[in-house]
Amino acid sequence: MIQKYVFGSPIETDAVVEDIPVSGEKLPFFELTGDNGFLYQLAEKDIVYGLGEQVRGINKRGWKYVSCNSDNPHHQEDTVSLYGAHNFLLISGEELFGVFFDYPGSMSFDIGFTRRDTMKVLTSDFNLYVYIITGENEKEIVKQFRRIIGQSYIAPKWAFGYGQSRWGYKSADEIRTVAEEYRKRNIPIDSIYLDIDYMEHYKDFTVNEETFPEIEKFCAEMKAMGIHLVPIIDAGVKIEKGYSVYEEGVRNNYFCKDENGNDFTGAVWPGRVHFPDFLDPEVRKWFGEKYSILLEKGFDGFWNDMNEPAIFYSEKRLASVMERINELSKENMGTDGFFEFTGLVNGISNNTGDYDCFFHKVDGKMLPHSKVHNLYGYNMTKAAGEAFKKLSPEKRILMFSRSSYIGAHRYGGIWQGDNKSWWSHLLMNLQMMPSLNMTGFLYTGADTGGFGSDTTEDLMLRWLQLSVFLPLFRNHSAQGTRPQELYRFENCEDCKRMIEIRYGLIPYLYSEYRKAILRDEMMYRPLAFDFREDEDARSVEDQLLLGNELMIAPVYKQNATGRYVYLPEEMMLVRMRSPEDFETETVEPGHHYIRAELNELVFFIRKDKAIPFGTAAPDTARLDTSSLRFIGYPEAGYELCEEEGTSVLHMFEEHK
Ligand code: GLC
Repeated sequence: MIQKYVFGSPIETDAVVEDIPVSGEKLPFFELTGDNGFLYQLAEKDIVYGLGEQVRGINKRGWKYVSCNSDNPHHQEDTVSLYGAHNFLLISGEELFGVFFDYPGSMSFDIGFTRRDTMKVLTSDFNLYVYIITGENEKEIVKQFRRIIGQSYIAPKWAFGYGQSRWGYKSADEIRTVAEEYRKRNIPIDSIYLDIDYMEHYKDFTVNEETFPEIEKFCAEMKAMGIHLVPIIDAGVKIEKGYSVYEEGVRNNYFCKDENGNDFTGAVWPGRVHFPDFLDPEVRKWFGEKYSILLEKGFDGFWNDMNEPAIFYSEKRLASVMERINELSKENMGTDGFFEFTGLVNGISNNTGDYDCFFHKVDGKMLPHSKVHNLYGYNMTKAAGEAFKKLSPEKRILMFSRSSYIGAHRYGGIWQGDNKSWWSHLLMNLQMMPSLNMTGFLYTGADTGGFGSDTTEDLMLRWLQLSVFLPLFRNHSAQGTRPQELYRFENCEDCKRMIEIRYGLIPYLYSEYRKAILRDEMMYRPLAFDFREDEDARSVEDQLLLGNELMIAPVYKQNATGRYVYLPEEMMLVRMRSPEDFETETVEPGHHYIRAELNELVFFIRKDKAIPFGTAAPDTARLDTSSLRFIGYPEAGYELCEEEGTSVLHMFEEHK
């Protein structure tokens, strides 16, 4: 059952697409506090799931979180905000219910942080919708929630192939070398990402003709090698006379305004930019249609970035900071002066104070950005998604974004932002999967190998052993870090075999992915969702159920040659070194130490289940799906949910 409550005059976010009448009853479960908050008493054993893209574990209890989309490439355990705002929680314990706070501004969740037995949710102005969802079990509650927020975006099958990316590929020649290195070594690959350097001075929808000459031909050349090129699109539009996107935006009042009605100026990669007001449908239409410039050149996938929006500095703040620093520099800076100075410098970027200095047009009214901050990236993705429906109705276009809000899942996927080459971020990648699935984000994954800081070979291999199971499988790294294309590593052969295994898994993964979307289900679940009564399963934080057949339990610690795994039921352990080289063994329910060498992918098939498994292929287009093998319990069947070619039909088949 779903009940909708309204408080004050909420801003419509379009997160929920089903018409639900507002309940006249009192809000259950929560007590209203006088300070715009909601209070819930947590019982000792209650688990709190949810919040989508957030730090910490699968169980969110014991920390505080703030939904305020933030560009934070240095996030760690004590961070409170990441790139997305997904205000859905599922409380499982004494009571069982889901709750969605549909609120587009910044809001906080103290989940047993101040007091272990108390959850307090705070908004800044108490204008919001609250949805309470009850049901028999966790899966059913999520299914109802997913139904009301609408069907998730379906990525093309090639987007399940392996992707190579790096911020710093400066030219077509460099990209060509990457493609050749992969093909030369027969490491399967489907896509190479173009980061900001493909553009002319970081201007959206332009291509640098010197470094990327004859881009149509280059796209075709890569396509002939079986490789899709996926360019980045940034939110900020460079201020430059003669640049058509800028000029059209100014002429038509498409950019966010400052308090005086002038176009608001911030700065990102190109220096000074204006930010399109994506909350305005006319602006979305205009910006969305711009993607056709690149679609026509042969691209068929994009990633939307810096759309929290990230602001290196706002013109106004920079001026006032510079003025103050100038004054300070004339003094003999002691403790106070020096801390003021570093505080000023560190506070220039992504300063939430700037969110009150620019405005959006919503239903004819000007709203400060702070009121709708978390909707910005969502509406940029929506601009693209709405345009693709018109520009390319027959063909799926790859789209994923950095920033998001619930609702964006209907138009694209997300990647989990700028992580680091840290073992803790490998675990966090796994822990975010179920909470993202609850809120509709199915096409997701993190930068494999880690984006910031230097990766190591063993971290890369272990990360591959998680990412082979995740929809978005992209190796991406930041400029200045150790190069991490797979052929850079001494143990490249081991990496290659992991990618080959991925291609063997694609028929199964894409089928489970489609099923999860078409049926509003979670592809990745905490163990407790399927084993509700099992106390040990309820506390597992580092294993996931995948689809209906698998359990994954990757190694995420350096120098570990195995790990403890909990089996809530008998399962079949698969130890795989390549698609052809593997053995299976039945393992009893209970706690086990499972050895897993660096070159071994270890996973589990659930009792009486089997998965279809293909062979390696250079790319998804050359996957041979006519001769799938089955791995698992001999009598098991599998329901394959396929998509033929590029049509949007689906087909269910029983295989024995
Ligand atoms: C942002 C993105 C990252 C990208 C970089 C340069 O940090 O999150 O993926 O490589 O910008 O465009």
